[in-house]
Amino acid sequence: MDGNVRNPEMKRINSPELAQAFIDEQIADIRKTVGNKKVLLALSGGVDSSVCAALLIKAIGSNLVCVHVNHGLLRKGESEQVIKVFKNELGANLIYVDAVDRFLDALAGVEEPEEKRKIIGKIFIDVFAEEARKLDGIEFLGQGTIYPDILESKGIKAHHNVGGLPKELNFKLIEPVKLLYKDEVRVVGEQLGLPHNMVYRQPFPGPGLGVRCPGAITRDRLELVRESDAILRDEFAKAKLEGKVWQYFTVVPPFKSTGIKDNKRTFEYMVVIRAINSIDAVTASVEEIPYDLLFKIRDRILNEVNGVNRVLFDISPKPVATIEWE
Ligand code: XMP
Repeated sequence: MDGNVRNPEMKRINSPELAQAFIDEQIADIRKTVGNKKVLLALSGGVDSSVCAALLIKAIGSNLVCVHVNHGLLRKGESEQVIKVFKNELGANLIYVDAVDRFLDALAGVEEPEEKRKIIGKIFIDVFAEEARKLDGIEFLGQGTIYPDILESKGIKAHHNVGGLPKELNFKLIEPVKLLYKDEVRVVGEQLGLPHNMVYRQPFPGPGLGVRCPGAITRDRLELVRESDAILRDEFAKAKLEGKVWQYFTVVPPFKSTGIKDNKRTFEYMVVIRAINSIDAVTASVEEIPYDLLFKIRDRILNEVNGVNRVLFDISPKPVATIEWE
């Protein structure tokens, strides 16, 4: 039988017991396949790669080598959480690569959205391949492929996230969660002891904050996106909207508008808040955020994020707009 097809009799994993049975089965399978060889995995901190990593760590311990590439387009605290959870708590063999300058230098002045994505994808592969070449004895590549990725191989991930490793790095693939749906991956992740906010986090695009800094990315605007996004996420968590609203983030367009502060005219950037609900990202509706919460977020952004004098709320559904701004 094709290993990429889910057996119709397979039970939907929706309880700790079923998750544990799946984990035990996968650990045995991984050990049988990998033996005492080494597996390499790109660990972004997203749900799928995190659950895949946690499973592999349980199965083969330090024979899993995780590479976390910081491309400078991650959200506030994201790299730190990956290091804390995987290196400090789970004892992962984790290589942290600070590639921030390399990515941001290559992206400087590049305005076209798909060109930005291509650069991010290409440098990511380059950096990961460089790390892979430094290591001895890697035979397998771990990947957090999930069932929808297989079913929708023409879907959003495949469409946007182009690229593969150079031919000479022809590792055998290990994809322990490839037959699971997202909700099942989450149940397995919790059973593996991963933090709730890591397992239930909202979708986050591969090019990260890069697509929320429309036009040519600049470090100052990127910082405004990162700080305002952190405030939005914090307030959504406090309002118990985390895990309820499908996707929420901020965007900082590449132009300024006038404002007034301490009786002086200012000319600064604006922050756009976007909060949408969706089932499959193909269509999306706008979350009706109560005005008092919007005002609270607005006040925090205007007070805490230096260089912003205006806050907007994007009320556009998909279609006609897309979820991201580019
Ligand atoms: P759009 O903006 O096309 O987004 O309505 C639909 C969903 O896809 C996510 N998205 C991406 N995901 N790489 C990804 O992995 C990308 O380049 C990318 N662009 C958009 C977006 O966040 C939304 O969930």
